[in-house]
Amino acid sequence: MRGRTILMTGGLLLALVGMVAVVQARPTKRLDPTTNTCRVFTLGGIEEGQHLFRSVCKSCHFRGNKVGAHFLYSESLISKAWNRVFAERYPACAKNGSWASLNDEQLRRINDFLYMNSGDSYDPNNAMDCG
Ligand code: HEC
Repeated sequence: MRGRTILMTGGLLLALVGMVAVVQARPTKRLDPTTNTCRVFTLGGIEEGQHLFRSVCKSCHFRGNKVGAHFLYSESLISKAWNRVFAERYPACAKNGSWASLNDEQLRRINDFLYMNSGDSYDPNNAMDCG
């Protein structure tokens, strides 16, 4: 029993080290907490998420807006925090119907785009991120 526990702990540690190496580069997928599924990013899906973010979210969250919304862009939050925004839907605008024109899959695509391009997803010192 003890040997197995040590082996499992070792395996877990190795897995963690592997993950740290991977998160250096821009993520290519994310675990969606609302559906508990792994979403593998596609170019088309990310482009749609970006388009929806610009046309819906940025219609209020642009600099100098008159509705009292903070300026927001993908790097305003780190990837985990973007997941929280969509999983918990805590912002005032999520509660007052400002997201109502978007269906659940469209919101997941916006979440994908923001997660992929978030404040902690880019490392200029990593060869995977250059060019
Ligand atoms: C009709 C205008 C409007 C739209 C559309 C809108 N928001 Fe908001 N949002 C607001 C306002 C007003 C607030 C409250 C002030 C603030 O915190 O920026 C807010 C708050 C937020 C916050 C909290 C900001 C903070 O600094 O704590 C987040 C995150 C957010 N919105 C994300 C989004 C996303 C993502 C979308 C698109 C799915 C969106 N919003 C669409 C008006 C809007």
